[in-house]
Amino acid sequence: MRQAGRYMAEYRALREKWSLLDICRNPDLATEVTLQPVRRIEVDAAILFSDLLLPLEPLGLPFDFLKGEGPQIHSPIGGPDDIDRLRRFEPREALAHVLTAIGQIQRELKGRVPLIGFAGAPFTLASYAIEGGHSNNFAKTKALMYGHPEDWHRLCALLADVVGDYLVAQIDAGVDAVQVFDSWVGALSPADYREFALPHSKRIFETVGTRVPTIHFGTGTAMMLADMRDAGGDVIGADWRIPLDEAWARIGHDRAVQGNLDPTLLLGPLPRMFRQVDEILERVAARPGHIFNLGHGLLPSTPVEHVQMLAQYVHTTARSVARA
Ligand code: CP3
Repeated sequence: MRQAGRYMAEYRALREKWSLLDICRNPDLATEVTLQPVRRIEVDAAILFSDLLLPLEPLGLPFDFLKGEGPQIHSPIGGPDDIDRLRRFEPREALAHVLTAIGQIQRELKGRVPLIGFAGAPFTLASYAIEGGHSNNFAKTKALMYGHPEDWHRLCALLADVVGDYLVAQIDAGVDAVQVFDSWVGALSPADYREFALPHSKRIFETVGTRVPTIHFGTGTAMMLADMRDAGGDVIGADWRIPLDEAWARIGHDRAVQGNLDPTLLLGPLPRMFRQVDEILERVAARPGHIFNLGHGLLPSTPVEHVQMLAQYVHTTARSVARA
């Protein structure tokens, strides 16, 4: 999930002065925003403040974030020829500011909590590169995928190279774990996932190898959890659309799971949120290898006190379940 952001007053205050990309590109600001949730909420890990789309610019796809509309890629990929103009790049040069931020964050954290780095999976990154922004039906993405499968695989192979290089650079800079976000891969059928996405995501996990623990995240993926496991990840994320014990059974108990509270429940009423936390923890049944998390990112209208109470509640309840 995304844990920093607009639901925190201190983040909104910084955003009055700086754009999202300013924050991502300035190691001091990125360090500050990474630490904001760690100071305020009992989180067990820090998440590097950056954005999934940062590698698109050095790849040859500059973009901006438009107020209220999300990301906009200036010249999205319109067809096979556009893939030729993309270039693999050296993340230690093009994204040096992210790596500098990682060093600074680790110096500030002093080992209090681990730091998670991240990048996007090829399907999700390709969907932004092709659609030019967010999409509801991924029509352009799928048109390229079905209509020009060789070009699709060429694009995703390049994205897998870029993401693999970038994650290894983040690990060398000091992150303790990495998360691969395939946020929109649930738009595919399981068979299409296996044909068009899995081989490329798998290459990323093979590139990272056993350097640090890896987390593989997606939403709407109930039907493809076993395939995501086959692609890789020491931890597989599940969203709220599937009961957590069922998700874990599909993934296999030899892997860890992350999930799976619906972020909307944090808006309230609180008794309903706590009830759902209880249910998740009952389904975990004290089995080791569960990371309590939201099924997706926090909504900007979430009261920060609700997030604080959630973290406290999970810690006390999980401890008492583990003792019982
Ligand atoms: O602490 C954290 O977790 C924050 C770090 C973080 C951001 N983006 C900053 C951000 C992380 C882990 C991401 C990943 C990311 N970015 C994903 C994958 C995770 C997911 O939620 O599925 C995706 C799909 C993106 C692309 C992206 N960035 C979109 C679609 C948007 C606009 C939508 C929105 O929420 O407004 C962003 C903007 C963005 N990136 C924000 C933050 C905190 C929104 C806040 C702002 O505009 O200041």
